[in-house]
Amino acid sequence: MSATAILGMQWGDEGKGKITHLLAREADIIVRFNGGPNAGHTVIDRGKEFKFHLIPSGALYPEKTNILAGGMVIDIDLLQREIDTVTEHSSRPQIYIADTAHLILPYHRILEQIEGSAAQIGTTKRGIGPTYRDKIDRTGIRVGDLKRPTILQKKLAAKTDYLKTMWPVVEEIRSLDVNLLVTQLQESAAPLLPLITNIPTLIRKGVTSGKEILFEGAQGALLDIDCGTYPYVTSSSTTVAGVIAGGTVPPSALDRRLGVIKAYTTRVGNGPFPTELTDHWGKRMQTKGGEFGATTGRIRRCGWLDLVALTQMVYLNDLSDFALTKLDVLSGFEKIKVAYAYRLDGEEIDYFPASAEELAACEPLYKEVDGWEEEITGVKRLRELPAAARRYIDMITETLGVPASLISTGPRPEETIMLR
Ligand code: GDP
Ligand code: IMO
Ligand code: MG
Repeated sequence: MSATAILGMQWGDEGKGKITHLLAREADIIVRFNGGPNAGHTVIDRGKEFKFHLIPSGALYPEKTNILAGGMVIDIDLLQREIDTVTEHSSRPQIYIADTAHLILPYHRILEQIEGSAAQIGTTKRGIGPTYRDKIDRTGIRVGDLKRPTILQKKLAAKTDYLKTMWPVVEEIRSLDVNLLVTQLQESAAPLLPLITNIPTLIRKGVTSGKEILFEGAQGALLDIDCGTYPYVTSSSTTVAGVIAGGTVPPSALDRRLGVIKAYTTRVGNGPFPTELTDHWGKRMQTKGGEFGATTGRIRRCGWLDLVALTQMVYLNDLSDFALTKLDVLSGFEKIKVAYAYRLDGEEIDYFPASAEELAACEPLYKEVDGWEEEITGVKRLRELPAAARRYIDMITETLGVPASLISTGPRPEETIMLR
């Protein structure tokens, strides 16, 4: 029996898709447990690039089971399109969808725009926040409701009536037609209905029969609704806590917690980012690392590695090991900086402040290490890395107190140093 959580340790886009696709070769079941189409996970399979938003990154192996678990929010039209894309490339992926996952509906995207959170937080505009809000408010529509048209109609009528009283002057809300909504949903859902099932049972059977299970996190720990840089976060649990609740797996079964850490830091959208570089070094990371959002195409903000934030997230996620990605992007940096502490109100602090305002006021204190000139793209053995690159890995490992098990030196699965 072995279950592994693959979790982003920064503000997302650490390379979780690549790592999950790679480890999925040896797995039986791959599970997405949080978030929705705000995620953009890049996977390269036999030279072809995919950007998965909803389906797990194990979907390119037709013999593997892929699960969209209850902690997710799902746009069924997008899901169908993703399934079609994979089917055209290889064969139809084996997919199961939790009846308890929540549906993203057209009004969620409208609300995100008119309420202002899209602009204030800089969200992906996929309706994520309003859908999770309905879930917490207990007025959400769940995937399982698609199987019960009468109940679906009743819940949607109540919801749309309520929205019309709240937003009487917004034309997009006023014109919501519940009958049309139900008809469209049923049409889109028809091919997916056989895939909707009770996921805790499926996971339990997998665990008890000794299957290898991967839980693929979306976003990253710094975007977590509880532990992240609130309010500049997403609306789900992106950490190991989310795996247990959203992925319906018992904690004792989760014997590996693999963090994915980019060798530098990126962030898309608004919010504090102490180690951000707005100079030509940041631009260089952005260009060399191809740092454009996989979901929205926005430019990702770039900066140095932040060991203060990482130390906290390694602890909160109880990491057993980590994968260091995009090390190749740092080739050509003569000196590399890492933040080891912050200065706040004139005092040195070694913890990650909970408030976004405090974090914004933090000045990072840097340690500078030697960089390396050599390009290392595609290197597969540790000993083939320049000494300075190995020292950089050692420094991170020593600070975080957990071992590195993979070093990623390029976007392709084979461009990886396997250490464990
Ligand atoms: P995810 O959301 O965590 O799955 O990450 P994204 O797919 O959004 O962003 C990671 C980007 O970096 C993608 O374009 C990947 O193809 C690419 N990538 C992943 N690992 C590496 C690596 O080690 N080196 C380089 N150069 N690119 C990588
Ligand atoms: P993956 O899984 C990077 C960010 C958005 C915004 C904030 C809230 O590819 O790592 P939301 O639409 O979730 O309400 O937006 O979170 N964000 C991500 N940033 N990678 C992601 O996913 C993200 N998903 C959401 O940019 O700042
Ligand atoms: Mg991404």
